Amino acid sequence: MSRSHDRPARTKSVSLSLPPSVTACLATLNGLADKGGWAGLFGREAPLELEIGFGWDAFLLEQARTRPAVDFIGIEYDRQRVLALARKALTAGVDNLRLVWGDADYHLPRLFQPASLQRVYIRFPDPWPKKRHHKNRLLGPEFLRRLFWHVAEGGELIVGTDDPAYRDFIQESLLAVTGLRNMAVPQPWLESVPDLPMSKFETLFRSQGKGVYYFRYARGSGFSDAHAEIAAAVLSRIPRRVCEMPHVVFSTSLELNAVCRGFEPFQWWDRDALFKVNEIWLASRATAVLLECVIVFDGHDECFYVEVANKRDSTVVRVSSIKEVERTELIFRFLAGLVRHFMTLFPDLRVLRHNLGAWAQRAEVSRD
Ligand SMILES: C[S@@+](CC[C@H](N)C(=O)[O-])C[C@H]1O[C@@H](n2cnc3c(N)ncnc32)[C@H](O)[C@@H]1O
Repeated sequence: MSRSHDRPARTKSVSLSLPPSVTACLATLNGLADKGGWAGLFGREAPLELEIGFGWDAFLLEQARTRPAVDFIGIEYDRQRVLALARKALTAGVDNLRLVWGDADYHLPRLFQPASLQRVYIRFPDPWPKKRHHKNRLLGPEFLRRLFWHVAEGGELIVGTDDPAYRDFIQESLLAVTGLRNMAVPQPWLESVPDLPMSKFETLFRSQGKGVYYFRYARGSGFSDAHAEIAAAVLSRIPRRVCEMPHVVFSTSLELNAVCRGFEPFQWWDRDALFKVNEIWLASRATAVLLECVIVFDGHDECFYVEVANKRDSTVVRVSSIKEVERTELIFRFLAGLVRHFMTLFPDLRVLRHNLGAWAQRAEVSRD
């Protein structure tokens, strides 16, 4: 970050959370933990079906309307798409649908008990066609193994794609997972799934004359024995109450417009971890900014958000609750490093209070 004021602004204006008007249709980790799981949240024991990446499609809403005996959950990481479907669901008055704003890979073990899902839909996931982007593909064998851990025995995954290269990749990934049954046998995939309405993307692709390929795989009886090693990792992530997030309060207000104007992505190493700040968004009334942050550690990337908000005579820097993150040591180290960064840029800043514990001293963030 630099303080120069002559660069053009690279800011997007966004409200920092989903509006309260749609919260009735949303599910968060805290809300779920408070209710003791999905049965508590929906107020009944019913089969659960999940869609990952519903996009602009209202498939889940249609399912919720026409199959009232089933409870539906959608996970999508695009805020506008979550908002759009939540509004439609509330207008339609369905009470067997909840949406989660976040990354499916991250949320799966935190949201679902082992063997708790009857069906999972993943329709037209991003194919990442360029070779150097293949690592971003969701449907690798590792992800499928973890996903099927949450699918009940006999429950199934339905995956659709229009991209022949991604189709082959998905097929290879499915075949690499022991204990699954291909429900399309003797064919490797289907051209359509009976009773499954076309999604937005499917309608588009078919209208362009493209082929569409559906995989339908069920969890077989041998799956849990073949993948027992996943149990411990998954069980340790069962939803629980998330405690107070790391935060720091400065005794003065920051000029947030200036912070945004001078923003450049930046990163720093802290021993074994690479910490990055990629983007900044200015909230509508310029009273807060949201920083998109990434921690790269042990071959994994964790994306989360830090909010810098001006109060009357102070500034609060805290890990934002728009995405649930574990209170790991890495998050504390990140925040301590970020605060040190702000204090170098703005030498007049004084820390009023923080809850960073020993990490503050190690990062030389001292209280006034
Ligand atoms: C190509 S669109 C398909 C949308 C819809 N399923 C359809 O068929 O019309 C893929 C969607 O998946 C979402 N998505 C991709 N990866 C995701 C992830 N890891 N977690 C949650 N959503 C994801 C994207 O934001 C996007 O909306």
